[in-house]
Amino acid sequence: MHLLRGAAGLAALLGLAPRQFAADSSAYVDKETGLTYASYTSDRGIIFRVAVPDTVPTSLVYDTVLQIVSPIAVGWAGLAWGGSMTYNPLAITWANGTHNVVITSRYAYGYYVPPVYPSSNYTVLKTGTHINATHWQITAKCTGCTKWGDDSTGVTTIDPKIQNTIAFAYSNTPVDTPADAGSSFGIHDSIGHPVFDLSVAENKNFTAAVAKLA
Ligand SMILES: *[C@@H]1O[C@H](CO)[C@@H](O)[C@H](O)[C@H]1NC(C)=O
Ligand SMILES: *[C@@H]1O[C@H](CO)[C@@H](O)[C@H](O)[C@H]1NC(C)=O
Ligand SMILES: *[C@@H]1O[C@H](CO)[C@@H](O)[C@H](O)[C@H]1NC(C)=O
Ligand SMILES: *[C@@H]1O[C@H](CO)[C@@H](O)[C@H](O)[C@H]1NC(C)=O
Repeated sequence: MHLLRGAAGLAALLGLAPRQFAADSSAYVDKETGLTYASYTSDRGIIFRVAVPDTVPTSLVYDTVLQIVSPIAVGWAGLAWGGSMTYNPLAITWANGTHNVVITSRYAYGYYVPPVYPSSNYTVLKTGTHINATHWQITAKCTGCTKWGDDSTGVTTIDPKIQNTIAFAYSNTPVDTPADAGSSFGIHDSIGHPVFDLSVAENKNFTAAVAKLA
């Protein structure tokens, strides 16, 4: 006990943060959408952001908002709500030429191209979604991204009050058919498993605030 207290005291003296409590995300207030997100920037400068309501039901079934900002040359960028490739809802996004940004709900049952997943639906929010010469950006509401699974795989939920591991992946190679949301695509060039602190991403009046962006 004395030893532990001593170690903590020494860490405090040296100004060391307790690493095990540090999330990889940081709070980000987006002027354009007016929402506050937990934001993480991956290698290659791709930004992954998640916003949640300030109050959620005990069922932990609630809508979230996902925002991805990517350099234009990236082929596709994706997020895995449960922090791994398989058996959790995936959001895969890419630029459809300079026309629009595509988001598709997928679910991987193995290490092959994940099929479309109908239990999570994304609504693209016009505010916060655009393409310019250097980047594409998408902001979308997800219904069905906070609870998944069944009796055989186990049911998983996202509790916004605690830290959650959310995975990302991207590829520099474009998807096979960018104009088709059901397109197949190749394996990722990079992945990561950042810890998101969603407690900083709570938004008052979430439903009304998000509805205004559609
Ligand atoms: C292009 O879009 C990105 C992402 O939304 C933004 O950060 C950047 O400022 C934009 N560039 C210009 C010139 O508007
Ligand atoms: C998503 O949309 C499909 C097709 O419209 C619908 O069958 C499904 O119930 C929706 N799921 C959720 C979670 O809203
Ligand atoms: C991609 O853009 C084309 C127009 O250039 C459009 O017809 C098509 O619907 C778009 N695809 C998606 C999935 O948004
Ligand atoms: C939430 O929305 C209600 C109804 O539109 C409004 O009266 C209230 O001021 C809003 N609260 C905040 C904190 O924005």
